[in-house]
Amino acid sequence: MNILEIINKKKNKLSLSKDELFYAFNGYDKDDVKDYQMASLLMAIAINGLSEQETFDLTEIFIESGEIIKFDDINYVDKHSTGGIGDKTTLIVAPIVAACGIPILKMSGRGLGHTGGTIDKLESIKDFKINLSIDEIKENLLKNKIVLVGQSANIVPMDKKIYLLRDVTATVESIELIAVSIMSKKIALGAKNIVIDLKVGKGALIKNHEDASKLSNLMKKIGNKFNVNVSFVISNMDNPLGITIGNSLEVLESIQVLKGKGAIDITNLSLVLSAKLIQMHKNITFEEAFKTASETLEKGLAFNKFLELIKSQEGILGSLRKATNEMVIYSQKKGYITSINAYGLGVEAKNIKAGRTNKDDIIDYQVGIELHYQVGQFVTEDVPLATVYYNDVKPSEEEIIKCFIIEENKTESKLILGVID
Ligand code: URA
Repeated sequence: MNILEIINKKKNKLSLSKDELFYAFNGYDKDDVKDYQMASLLMAIAINGLSEQETFDLTEIFIESGEIIKFDDINYVDKHSTGGIGDKTTLIVAPIVAACGIPILKMSGRGLGHTGGTIDKLESIKDFKINLSIDEIKENLLKNKIVLVGQSANIVPMDKKIYLLRDVTATVESIELIAVSIMSKKIALGAKNIVIDLKVGKGALIKNHEDASKLSNLMKKIGNKFNVNVSFVISNMDNPLGITIGNSLEVLESIQVLKGKGAIDITNLSLVLSAKLIQMHKNITFEEAFKTASETLEKGLAFNKFLELIKSQEGILGSLRKATNEMVIYSQKKGYITSINAYGLGVEAKNIKAGRTNKDDIIDYQVGIELHYQVGQFVTEDVPLATVYYNDVKPSEEEIIKCFIIEENKTESKLILGVID
């Protein structure tokens, strides 16, 4: 077997055996296969796809590249989002679910490009410990029912390496590679019930419904193969979620949502995601589960659980700060906001250092954008549309104002586009 034969086979649309996939991907993990060879194979896969069997085989190879967590005595759930602008639902869903008595273990990543990562948000909380040992994870799950950790080097290390290469070779958008990347990490973490928030739209990895449907079908099949229940909430990512973009700002907004004072869109999506997990875990109807989730939020139980989480992972909430420089963006028109370009604001937030362009960039947790109006609202000329909090890099007022589309007539924008069991 050699790597050139394998690349050629995929280039010629032929299927690869599990041994051939192992030879290529394990070889890359061990530095025997070079970056340029793996880049070429990834591009051949991105163009010609993988069969179902190849996808299952590659998922298994990914899972087996590292440690597999298995707490047989704890029945816990997990959630995943394919990534978007202002998406802080993990910080809200995990406390809701745990406050309902359901253990939740979530391993999150850092943001790269225009989307944010939950770990960056958690790290904006001073001293919050994102690296826990397997024993600490188990202890916290048993005690508090909630654990949020970073992507440990030992859980699917192959994905970390391949993802970085995909990110710089225009191969991130391959449906099969996304399915393998997400599902291998979920399966290695050992939850039996998982909900995936599949984002679709201009600010998301998946741009249209057809691809969302293909991806959810494939992930469902991988779940079945590995005995894991997966449900999907398909949600719109044309506009930012909630009213803040940027790490500390998003934690502060999550606290408002947990106190019952959040924007309707983020509150509702968080409740739907929580309800799906409660429904799957307790085997009850969605309506019953939604009621449980709503009551847990209303009674302040989820907020208390969030405080328990911060305490158990040693964070200091009082340390959260916004950057001191403010730039207010004013409306130049009267009318309804019909769209707020999530991708555009994500790029602007990244430019002022809320996110990274390169994986080693240092981010500024205090900077970000706060929206004063959301899609569907009426504004007059000169009202403040947003405030940008910044430190050393000045935001571009011109680029930010362009992200707000204001028109005479109101248009409806639906956030939750579908639920797939
Ligand atoms: N999220 C992941 O973890 N992997 C992908 O490939 C895409 C989104």
